[in-house]
Formats: sequence, structure tokens, C-alpha cells
Amino acid sequence: MYRTHSCGDIRPEHIGRRVTLAGWVNRRRHHGGVIFLDLRNRSGIVQIVVNPETSTSAHDVAETVRNEWVVQVEGVVQQRPAGMVNPALPTGQIEVDADKIKVLNPARTPPFPINEETEVEEMIRLKYRYLDLRRPRMQRILELRHRIVKYIRDFLDERGFWEIETPILFKTTPEGARDYLVPSRIHPGEFYALPQSPQQLKQLLMVAGVERYFQIARCFRDEDLRGDRQPEFTQLDLEMSFVDREDVMSLTEELFTAMVEELLPEKRILAKPWPRLTYTEALDRFGRDDPDIRFGMELKDISDLADGCGFKVFERVVKSGGRVGGLNAKGCGEFSRREIDELANFAADFGAKGLAYLAVSMSGEHRSSFAKHLDDDRLQTMMDRLETVPGDLLLFVADQPHVVFESLGRLRVHLGDRLGLRDPDVLAFCWVVDFPFLMWNEEESRWDPSHHLFTAPMPEDVYLLDTDPGQAHGQQYDMVLNGLEVGGGSIRIHDRGLQEKVFQLIGLELEVAQARFGHMLEAFEFGTPPHGGIAPGIDRICRILAGEPHIREVIAFPKNQAARDVMANAPSPADAEQLEELHLRLVEGAPIAEMMDKDE
Ligand code: AMO
Ligand code: AMP
Repeated sequence: MYRTHSCGDIRPEHIGRRVTLAGWVNRRRHHGGVIFLDLRNRSGIVQIVVNPETSTSAHDVAETVRNEWVVQVEGVVQQRPAGMVNPALPTGQIEVDADKIKVLNPARTPPFPINEETEVEEMIRLKYRYLDLRRPRMQRILELRHRIVKYIRDFLDERGFWEIETPILFKTTPEGARDYLVPSRIHPGEFYALPQSPQQLKQLLMVAGVERYFQIARCFRDEDLRGDRQPEFTQLDLEMSFVDREDVMSLTEELFTAMVEELLPEKRILAKPWPRLTYTEALDRFGRDDPDIRFGMELKDISDLADGCGFKVFERVVKSGGRVGGLNAKGCGEFSRREIDELANFAADFGAKGLAYLAVSMSGEHRSSFAKHLDDDRLQTMMDRLETVPGDLLLFVADQPHVVFESLGRLRVHLGDRLGLRDPDVLAFCWVVDFPFLMWNEEESRWDPSHHLFTAPMPEDVYLLDTDPGQAHGQQYDMVLNGLEVGGGSIRIHDRGLQEKVFQLIGLELEVAQARFGHMLEAFEFGTPPHGGIAPGIDRICRILAGEPHIREVIAFPKNQAARDVMANAPSPADAEQLEELHLRLVEGAPIAEMMDKDE
């Protein structure tokens, strides 16, 4: 037996007991004749005293050990002398008087300290991820993620859900990204696709009569890794039969509310039940379909006031069918010209052709890039609409609606960060509903599904698919947390005719649809129950609950921003023999792995 106790579990009640411990040397201190070792494992740290008067051999070994060596210690738990008690440590009242120390394994000096929370370049952390994960902060995250997933499993089990695994080697499941393809050795020239989500399979499980399915499912998407994206990530994927939107949303809401209250009682959920916004309302008020509702500074439409106001930029845009949106950056009225220019540059990155401003100083004086063109009444009405008081800064963008939303929506979040309005201890869940069923794809001149191919239109809008498809709404819901889309789901189509009509609308030839999704269409002919589901993203939710800046922090072995595993160095070239077996030939210039055996 390697140990009788775990380092962090020793307490005053163990005083006088003989214990055997094993762990890593967190730190070694020499105090005259006595050596102190802080011994660490995932449960915590305990102080070991190595007194030559207790055991010279133990002392000799302690002389040699260094940080991160793995050692086994035997000794007797004793009360720390008065003045040596450390109230900051759960084991701070006791220490272990060692009489035997055995080195289980020495360690090279680690590339960064394990025993301190120092900033380390992410590249190095990822290369030595196993050491990074050994640090207490990362261990807390791993444990939190485990607790979250366990909570989900228990909660859903109690409500009659079955966890069912679905294949990783499958066929394309379009969720808007590129597929990862896996060449088949047995079937030359054919490929599996890694699932972008288990979408089709979970629907087929509903056809199979499973009724309530879930899976902690790995998903694979070859897409640009901006923001909170990874090439492989994890969803809580779930699907239910005989349900409407309310059923799925209320179950999801209950799950995450109860989980947060149990696992993270120090966090405050902003509003219960979670607020619901329509897609249009989310854009109008926040400029985004993933609004951060922890703070105000909402967008206001002043197009009606801009019409004929005297400021040509505004007038022109409104005449051409655009809109003028504004937001009140509360308390920024004393921003310097340079600070305002920075905001304008920020907005320009998101398409704004300019950022008109009106700054009202604390004493009520105006500075503005456009106010001189307006009469006093008009200006006052604008200021009233934005609820202006001294010390405020009004910012305006005039453009097509999507540009106004994108630039002001981003600016609002940027200001929220800058002004410290995005409190990480507040969890603002909300639902966004009533999305348009289709979105017009300018580049390809065709309709795209706004969610995915299998989402059902609102029943009362089905007729619009024939007459005015752009006006139809979908039975989709997005789960948003602190300004991030953390989940999406919908009620599905369960009728072959309607599914074919949607394929047609998005320009999928029936033959292609048949080749790709024939199994779905066929299944719909065998008594498919009405069904729907959702897939909250585990990585994104964990990262917000853990208060981390990006999802790489809550994934044990993530890829870097260039989709590379820098620890194992993947992807890496394959050798010629492997390629041959897979019936693959590389285009000229692509690297092939060096043969392991040079003689071959
Ligand atoms: P959707 O594509 O909206 O829906 O994805 C659901 C959730 O998965 C998470 N997510 C990601 N997380 C990390 N990295 C990524 N690259 C990534 N892509 C998505 C997000 C997102 O909200 N099959 C449907 C669900 C359904 O209809 O039931 C689907 O996958 O948190
Ligand atoms: P100018 O036409 O250069 O006198 O611009 C006056 C102000 O209008 C400047 O602050 C510009 O940033 C701003 N501006 C120009 N175009 C737009 C626009 N499309 N939306 C909002 N403000 C604009």
C-alpha cells in the first residue's frame, strides 16, 4: 500500500497517528538542521518535518529531494508548535514528523513553477499540458467540469433520460462548418465524416422510440477558431419526443438553474425564470442575438428623428432605407477626443463608416461631431430618447441595420468590459426565440437555414414557405449566458414532405438530398413522433462558470488557435505506407512522414 491518507486530508483528529503519504514535493525549506517539505497531491498540501534527531536516514534522503520529485513519507502526525500554525491552510494546524522517506521518482526542473500561480506563456503551458494540469488552479477546473457533467447525468437520469452513444465514424452532419473526413481503408475512395453533432442520430433515436435521450457528446467542426471555438468540443446533446418548445426550454432551464445553485452557490443568477427575447428584440435592444443582459446601455433607434434633421450623413442613410442607432455610454462624457476616436476605430472594425458623438460634460457642456447641424429641439428630443444626463457620451451609427447592430452591439460589449459592467459573479441566462426560419445568403444567392436543416418552421408559418419564405419563423431557441450563445435547439421536422420542401428551398437538389439524407427521409415514413431537443455547449458553459477567459482553459488537452495539439504535435504527416493503405496520394509538395525504419 502506497499510502494511508491523502496529503490534504490530515487534520488535528489524526494527531498521534502514524501515516504514510505519497505525493509531489511542492517546496523544500532548510531550517538549520531541520528540513521542511511541503508534500502535495490533488487533495492539498501537508507539511512534513524531517528532523535528523528523529531519523538520520530520512534526513539524508530529504537533503537530496527537489521540487516535483515524487516521494513516499512515513511518520507521526503532530500538533504544530505555537506560532507555526497556518490558518490559511486546511492542514495548517498539524505536521507530519517523518521517520522514513522514499524517493519514488525524481523530476527534472519543470519549465515553469508548479507551486505558484505565475503567468506562463500559453504555448509553453500547452506543450507541457500535463504539468500545467498539475497546478492547483487547473485541478480545480478539472474537478468543476467533472461535477458539472456528473450533475447533468444524475439530473437527466432522474427524469427518465437514457445516455446513448452514437458513432464518431459517420456521415456528414451539416451544422454550418466543414467536416473532418476519415478515409476508409476497406472502401477505397470513400470517407467517413466525424459528426459536427449527433443531430441526425438523436432524431433517429426518437424514431426508435427512445423518447428521452442524452449524451455527453464529442463534436467535430473544421472551422475558423475565433473566440470560443475548438475543432472538437463537447455538447450535452439531448432530444425528447412528444414535446413542444416550452417542454425543452423549461427542462433545460431547470437543469442549469439547479446545477448552478448546487455547485456554485456564490454565483447569482440574474433573473428567474430566464428572460426571453425575440430575435428582433435582441437585435433592436442589444444589436446581437446573443445579448449580455447584465448591464443596460441598450441601443436606441433614432431613425425617425434623423429624418430631415439637418445632418446630411443621417438624412442620406435614412432616405436609402437604413437606420440610425445610438447608445448612451453612461459616465463617459469626459472621454478625451482620443478616447472617442479609439471607439470610432473599434466600431469601424465592425463595419461602421463613422461614429457620430455627443459628449455632455459633468457641467453640461456639449462637444459633438454633428450637433451643430441640428436645431435645439431636435437635439433635445434625441438626448431625451437616450436618457441623457450630464457626464454621458452618446454614440451613433447610421447605416444598413445589420451594420448598425454589429458595430453598436460590439461597442456596447466593449464599453461594458471597459467600464467593469460585466460582473463575472452574475450569471445572466436568457432565451432568444422566434428566429427567422431562413437567412438570405448574399454570396450564394440562396436561402440558408438559420439553425440547421432539420429545424421545423412555426406551424402557422408553413404556408409562407411557398409564398414568402423570408417571413417565416423557425421553432428554434438559443440559450445565451453572459453574452455568449451557449446552446441551441429546436423542434424538428418529422414529416417527409416538409423536410423535402426545406431541402428544396435551400437549393439542395432532391438527388443530392436523397444521397446525403435518404436515411432520414425514409425514417420519417415509419411513424416518427413529433420531437425536439437542444445542445448546450459544455466547454462554453464550464468556462463561464469557472470564470475563465477562453474555453481552452476548461479542456484538458485543447488545440491551440491554429488547431494544433502542440504537446503531441498533431496533426503530423503520415508515412507513405499508411497513405498507400488508405488509397491516398498527396498533392506535390505536401510532406510525408520520415520512415521510422530508414532501411525500408
Ligand atoms: P449548434 O450548432 O447551435 O447546435 O451548437 C450547439 C452549441 O455547441 C457549442 N458549440 C461549440 N463549442 C465550442 N467550439 C465550437 N466549435 C462549437 N460549436 C458549437 C455552442 C453551441 O451553442 N445539433 C444542434 C443542436 C440541436 O439542434 O439540438 C447543434 O449542434 O455552445
Ligand atoms: P463628417 O462628414 O466627416 O463631418 O462627419 C461628421 C461626423 O459624422 C464624424 O464624427 C463621423 O465619424 C460621423 N459619421 C460619418 N459617417 C457616419 C455614419 N455612417 N454613421 C455615424 N456617424 C458617421
